[in-house]
Amino acid sequence: MWLWLMFLVNVSTLTVIIGASQPKLQIQPEGAQIKPIGSGLALICTPNVENPNLITQLEWRDSRNRRIDTTDTKAPVYIQRAYGETNIVLIFSKLTENLAGTYTCAANYASSEQLVASTNVVTIIGITWVDAPESQYPVIGQDYKVRCEIKANPEPIVYWLKDGEEINVTSSNRYITDQHGLLIKKVKESDDGVYTCRAVVFKTGQIEAKNIKPVEVVEGEEASIICNGTGKPPPSFTWIKEKTRQDLSVADRFTVKKNTGSLVIHKVEFNDDSFYKCVAENNAGRNETVVKINVLVKPKIYEFLNITEPLGNAAKIVCKAQGRPAPAIFFRKLTRKDPYDNGQQQYDPRIKQESYTDEEKGETIGVLNFNKLRRTDDGLYACIAENKVETAYKNGHITVEFPPSFEKTENYPPVWSWENHPGNLTCIAESIPNATIQWKFNGLYIEDNNTANIQRFGNGPISYLIITPNNDHRLYSQYECIATNKWGSASKLIELRKATVPEHIQHVTPESVTATTIKFNIGGPPNFRGIPVRSITVQYQTERERTWSTAREHTWSYNATYILENLVPEEVYNFRFAARNDVGMGGWSGNQQIQMPRRSVPAEPKLILDGQLPDIGSNYVAADLVTESHYADHYKLQWTVPNDNGDPIDSYVIRYCVTQKVNGLWRDSESECSDEITQSYQHTTYEMSDLRPDTTYKVELRAHNAIGSSSPAEIRVRTARGLSSVVYESGNPSISSAAIIGIVVAAILVALILVDVLCCCINHAGIIAFIYDQVHSKPVDDEDSKLGRDEKEPLKPAGKEDPIIINGVDKCNMSVEYDGKQVYTKPGEIIGKHSVV
Ligand SMILES: *[C@@H]1O[C@H](CO)[C@@H](O)[C@H](O)[C@H]1NC(C)=O
Ligand SMILES: *[C@@H]1O[C@H](CO)[C@@H](O)[C@H](O)[C@H]1NC(C)=O
Ligand SMILES: *[C@@H]1O[C@H](CO)[C@@H](O)[C@H](O)[C@H]1NC(C)=O
Ligand SMILES: *[C@@H]1O[C@H](CO)[C@@H](O)[C@H](O)[C@H]1NC(C)=O
Ligand SMILES: *[C@@H]1O[C@H](CO)[C@@H](O)[C@H](O)[C@H]1NC(C)=O
Ligand SMILES: *[C@@H]1O[C@H](CO)[C@@H](O)[C@H](O)[C@H]1NC(C)=O
Ligand SMILES: *[C@@H]1O[C@H](CO)[C@@H](O)[C@H](O)[C@H]1NC(C)=O
Ligand SMILES: *[C@@H]1O[C@H](CO)[C@@H](O)[C@H](O)[C@H]1NC(C)=O
Repeated sequence: MWLWLMFLVNVSTLTVIIGASQPKLQIQPEGAQIKPIGSGLALICTPNVENPNLITQLEWRDSRNRRIDTTDTKAPVYIQRAYGETNIVLIFSKLTENLAGTYTCAANYASSEQLVASTNVVTIIGITWVDAPESQYPVIGQDYKVRCEIKANPEPIVYWLKDGEEINVTSSNRYITDQHGLLIKKVKESDDGVYTCRAVVFKTGQIEAKNIKPVEVVEGEEASIICNGTGKPPPSFTWIKEKTRQDLSVADRFTVKKNTGSLVIHKVEFNDDSFYKCVAENNAGRNETVVKINVLVKPKIYEFLNITEPLGNAAKIVCKAQGRPAPAIFFRKLTRKDPYDNGQQQYDPRIKQESYTDEEKGETIGVLNFNKLRRTDDGLYACIAENKVETAYKNGHITVEFPPSFEKTENYPPVWSWENHPGNLTCIAESIPNATIQWKFNGLYIEDNNTANIQRFGNGPISYLIITPNNDHRLYSQYECIATNKWGSASKLIELRKATVPEHIQHVTPESVTATTIKFNIGGPPNFRGIPVRSITVQYQTERERTWSTAREHTWSYNATYILENLVPEEVYNFRFAARNDVGMGGWSGNQQIQMPRRSVPAEPKLILDGQLPDIGSNYVAADLVTESHYADHYKLQWTVPNDNGDPIDSYVIRYCVTQKVNGLWRDSESECSDEITQSYQHTTYEMSDLRPDTTYKVELRAHNAIGSSSPAEIRVRTARGLSSVVYESGNPSISSAAIIGIVVAAILVALILVDVLCCCINHAGIIAFIYDQVHSKPVDDEDSKLGRDEKEPLKPAGKEDPIIINGVDKCNMSVEYDGKQVYTKPGEIIGKHSVV
């Protein structure tokens, strides 16, 4: 699809160059010029005529039809002509509002024809604040205009908001708006607040806002205010704090400059929030003004108490904070990322966050309510108090008390004891507050160490009972651990049992036997309700020895692979087995007699592929296995030492042949085989070298001893291709050589199509031109008739230098469409609603 698109784009650019015919003037850039004030602009006027030499009096005229003839580059508008060119350029170095208007380019052609073209220059002004100071001080009792003068073109619409809420100017007769601001009649204390002047220009979508607010100072910091007053002679100023009627010229913490009217408050205090009167006096008289100073106070949490409540009760944590404006309060559990939402929590309706604000006192009380405490509510909580000055934090905790529980240690296993190995009974109770623990045995409380056989350590929340039965069988019994705190108690039975040696091993079978080794399959003794088996021991003697007293012994750890080595070939052995645990060794069982096989050739070695043994599982078919070499010319063979079957391995024999799959079967090429290579028994690797790239080799490996060679272990190895081995080494195996070839072919194709498109348009040659011809040699669409061309008239063959214009229609000025079935063309518009674009 995009190839066609590219074709169209190419055609259209050509059209521009070829299209013109009527004499006319052309202004570039085309269309009305909408530019912001202050930007520059250049308009070029070019005669579009057959003979530019016949153009005279080429000039620019301004909106009042005055000829612009200055070429002074410092002028706001001037013209520039390039030598040797017939065009004329109009330059605005810096647009101003009064330069907006219609500009006309005019010229005479062939002394008779008057050519004219014009364009509109429109200036726009973004929203600009002309007079809108952010700090303005209305005076109580008088009318006050909150100044907000804005300039913008197109005209802006201005809205007013007070403390974020829109002021409905029409509904109240206290407000009057004009282009300079908002007039508030007879200012009252309740008019104190933040006024927002918001300007919107709908044509451009621009929106700007400015907040106008009384003087705000932060408690503890320094603040200064200037009283603006002029007079002749210059007045002298005094400041009076309305709340206390104090003359601040003589007050602590305040500095008044009598000649400039400035007032400085050092270390602002909470109570400085007040109206202040500035009085300017000279011999001619006196004037005064009143301003409001808002004192902001950083939030401070002055109370946040820890609480302790029992499980299931209702509870609340209360956080009290001060500040101005009164802070907002939130809580956050320290194990959670986000603070709680106000009101009920969606994920846990038991929890509700509320707050009560007294704006007057600058005080907020936050409350986090739990209607039924859970153990998970226990933990640290942060109280967060926030106002526009700062955020304050404080941590507190909720302790959820609950009766003792053994939940976390539900299954107490029996405790084992034997001979002088004492039983250690551990009881851990969870509870808040900590539980005390008592032990009961046979229905009686165990008092402090009341028998020598029972010792108690700790009485809560953890307690151990150490019991040494010393053959007193009554002590192998159940013990009750009782945990108690103020909310309740819980108990748990722990049983002390006498441990014994393991029972007999149930069954033993030889799993695999070689001339010198046996691997046993041992079904261990039942471990049910006992202490763990640690090891398995085998005793064995030859048939001739007949007595176990001289028997040899081997011990495996439990669950190991039970292999016995270094046995004598053809010998007859008797075996017996026993299991051992911490108490001792159980009785012998599993007796068997086995005759070892005679010596033989070694077992087949096992090849290691990529550091791993091939999976000898059910689906593994050695004959079909092909492993890849990372290299084109060598491969490292690796194997594990096989069983020698009674005679030591003296060497390994390796042989490999080139092999190929023919009709699904592997065929070795006997002519391309290596000699038999002998590798010393000390090695378990062999490096095959001088291999051919991209070739499969069948490799055979045999182990050899004095009796002969084992059956061969086989593997097929395919060497890497020459090229891809290079790619491997560059460490970038993601681009295969096939992909590279694909990219190159695609690039050539694209280049060919480009060339072809150009050939079609310029020379009417190439494949596209050919297709075009084929399509047009027979009528395909009624649109064809609109070309006004005789359908029977044969088209000129491709490849010749033809004129481009046929019957007045520019052939290249056509779109080619493909609707999925047939290709057809139509003249004129390149990008129409039917076009592929
Ligand atoms: C403003 O008040 C007038 C008169 O009370 C009312 O007709 C108009 O709808 C109000 N405008 C807005 C935006 O609330
Ligand atoms: C004081 O008045 C002058 C001139 O009217 C003005 O430029 C200045 O911004 C004013 N100062 C204050 C703090 O309003
Ligand atoms: C004080 O000055 C304001 C404006 O600067 C003026 O409107 C007002 O009349 C003056 N008041 C007196 C008492 O002169
Ligand atoms: C709350 O408990 C914490 C320790 O968990 C302690 O540091 C803090 O002082 C306690 N708060 C109060 C108000 O008792
Ligand atoms: C009993 O077992 C606990 C751990 O479960 C251990 O901390 C304690 O030392 C043991 N006591 C004795 C006497 O072995
Ligand atoms: C409760 O028991 C734990 C563990 O023994 C101990 O660390 C903690 O101090 C005890 N608490 C009290 C209040 O006694
Ligand atoms: C029991 O005796 C042991 C050592 O003999 C001692 O550590 C322990 O505190 C005693 N227990 C009680 C509850 O007296
Ligand atoms: C022995 O192995 C079996 C199965 O692998 C396992 O279930 C058991 O827990 C093991 N026993 C020991 C003591 O390791």
